Amino acid sequence: MPSSAPRPAVADLAGAFALSPAASAFAAEVRAGLMRSPQKELPSKYLYDEVGSALFEVITVLPEYGVTRSEERLLTRYASEIVEALPSDVKVAELGSGSGRKTRRILEALCRKRPTSYCPIEISRTALQLCRRELADIERISIVGYERDYLAGLSEVSRQRKEGEQLLVLFLGSTIGNFARLAATRFLRDIRAMLRPGDTLLLGTDLVKPVDTLIAAYDDAIGATAAFNLNLLSRINRELDADFDLHDFEHVARFNPDVRSIEMHLRAKRDVHAEVRSAHLTVDIGAGETIWTESSHKYHADEIPAIAADAGFECTRQWVEKDWGFAESLLAVK
Ligand code: AVJ
Repeated sequence: MPSSAPRPAVADLAGAFALSPAASAFAAEVRAGLMRSPQKELPSKYLYDEVGSALFEVITVLPEYGVTRSEERLLTRYASEIVEALPSDVKVAELGSGSGRKTRRILEALCRKRPTSYCPIEISRTALQLCRRELADIERISIVGYERDYLAGLSEVSRQRKEGEQLLVLFLGSTIGNFARLAATRFLRDIRAMLRPGDTLLLGTDLVKPVDTLIAAYDDAIGATAAFNLNLLSRINRELDADFDLHDFEHVARFNPDVRSIEMHLRAKRDVHAEVRSAHLTVDIGAGETIWTESSHKYHADEIPAIAADAGFECTRQWVEKDWGFAESLLAVK
């Protein structure tokens, strides 16, 4: 500001601190979720800021959380077999780039056969950069990242493909588990709508297993998952000018047998009164009340072909890792 400019009034200062479009979407969703009754909730996608993403990387190497290692074993063991089951000339689009560690197996197997282009689609720029750094050394790969949400990014990649190129969409890590069951089918249908005959989707799903194993995976002994969950409140404090005291909350993981999902909640240890200034919200949470922050649905391997069919795919192959319980399913556009 030039030094001659008049000092802004308080109202102008508020304008100067106006939220970015992303922050105002965050504020709106926090406001709606915390005003919900009887169950307060916060969308799980907001767990992954810089701190949350780093904590999730820790979770993937915890002894109790077998999900990531199980999928890595599958992809390491069956990469060539998976690639043999694909059309010969594929362009790869990945929904959520993650760290790139699992994807490496598939990409290496593809690039051994022919030069391959890989398009990670991810809303987090940091994650895109990490994944590029992790995978750029693969021979004959070309990487083009899309900083977009999944469906917008996929439609762009699909439209930009070359003549004769078929799309392989990767949706790994059991991220689909974050959707409620009906929403998962709807999401697969939305993906299907952007694809053509000959295109394929490789879908990773964590499988149903004993409840105590699942609870341990989402309530680990060193408290990494608790920190991951609590960080959501700390993110709200940082980004939305709120005043939650994290000591007032505890992490809870519980199994919901009706829908076969693990739910994470934040439970108030005492009556809580908090302000979320950027969301123009005052919130009261009673002792024992919870905020629901995430669901991870677990599947039976044989449910996948039925869900796929419902969404306009045919499940042509499935690879199952039995030590932990994880399935990789290859869905072809019908
Ligand atoms: C990244 C969504 C697959 O649901 O298992 C891990 C996230 N949450 N521990 C999962 C998560 C708590 C994870 N996904």
